[in-house]
Amino acid sequence: MNLLLYILLAGLIAVVAVLRADLRRRRLSLTRGSGWNTLSALDVTAPALIAGMTVALLMAFIPGAVFYGFIPLHSLFTWGVAAGILIFAFLWIEGRRQIQFQRPRGIVFGEFLILAGAYKLLETVAFPNHPAVPRGPVTIALCSLAILGGGVLIAIIVPRYLKQGEERAILERLNDEGESVQQEYTPPTPECPHPELWSMVDSQSSELEILDFLKSMVTTVKPRLIVETGTFLGYGTLKMAEGLRENGFGQIITIEYDPVIFAKAKERIDASGLGDCIEYHNTSSLDTEIKGTIDILYSDSALSIREQEIRRFLPQMEPCGLIMIHDASSHFEVVREAALRLEQEGLISVVLLPTPRGMVIAQKREGRK
Ligand SMILES: C[S@@+](CC[C@H](N)C(=O)[O-])C[C@H]1O[C@@H](n2cnc3c(N)ncnc32)[C@H](O)[C@@H]1O
Repeated sequence: MNLLLYILLAGLIAVVAVLRADLRRRRLSLTRGSGWNTLSALDVTAPALIAGMTVALLMAFIPGAVFYGFIPLHSLFTWGVAAGILIFAFLWIEGRRQIQFQRPRGIVFGEFLILAGAYKLLETVAFPNHPAVPRGPVTIALCSLAILGGGVLIAIIVPRYLKQGEERAILERLNDEGESVQQEYTPPTPECPHPELWSMVDSQSSELEILDFLKSMVTTVKPRLIVETGTFLGYGTLKMAEGLRENGFGQIITIEYDPVIFAKAKERIDASGLGDCIEYHNTSSLDTEIKGTIDILYSDSALSIREQEIRRFLPQMEPCGLIMIHDASSHFEVVREAALRLEQEGLISVVLLPTPRGMVIAQKREGRK
């Protein structure tokens, strides 16, 4: 086969293979409109293009390397293949973070423009006399335009994403793409080195294993009153309500302060058939008055207010009741330190469960029999 055709074919196969794998992990389909917009299309195009170009370059490079029997380090091919592999790996990981709701749509394409533009500029400096390296004002202008374009895109989408908040971004994506289960997103911590063994529906809802645990706690200690701070989509609420349903008694009061998130949670709870044991409030946990004695407190609202929240509800806790504090791994220091501080003050006793996001199980010391 003609060498050029062979190179093009290898590049094309790489493009198709990467595109297929990326569409599959993003649960997108070329024949279905849901989940697509211009930015997501650009995001899946970028790694496929880099993979295609890198494989094509590699195919062009192999015959020479085999013929001469060595790989020259300072060569346009070696640099191109190495840069292609590094850029591809980076974009692929960024794509995974997008799927895990940690990055906005469009960021992969923006980063691709910056990295590809910067590499092409670097080539003109590192190989000033190489005949295959385009140079001159047009090349410089195109590379600068790519870097600038990527920078502007990121400068637009990132602040908007941060302002919107992760919770609203998840809600938007859920409405577009529906629910799905994927691997846990948090990085390894000393106490939980293999977070990939856990699963999640999204980065805000409790991990699936924690949801099962919550239900077991409810069926084990038979609470009359549960308070959950931070309803989000109601996964924790519904699991604990399932436990109450099995027990045959008990009530859960769940509190969510974001009105848009609350509306979605309410819709899900109303449709669940478990609504009769759930009372929902669209308020802040720091303002909601709870009547009666709390048997289980599941503290799962904003990380920064957990300590205040626990101090607020502590006097109402049944002495043998359980305080469960989510997101208390060493990855979320603010919550872990708050739990340990409350323990040092002699207010509660804590057990730190080594789960990916961490979970504290605590009991107040006062009045414990
Ligand atoms: C980690 S999510 C809750 C996940 C949920 N408990 C579950 O098990 O799936 C945190 C939620 O707390 C809400 N939130 C933040 N601050 C709050 C506050 N002061 N009062 C009530 N909800 C709050 C956020 O809007 C978000 O929906």
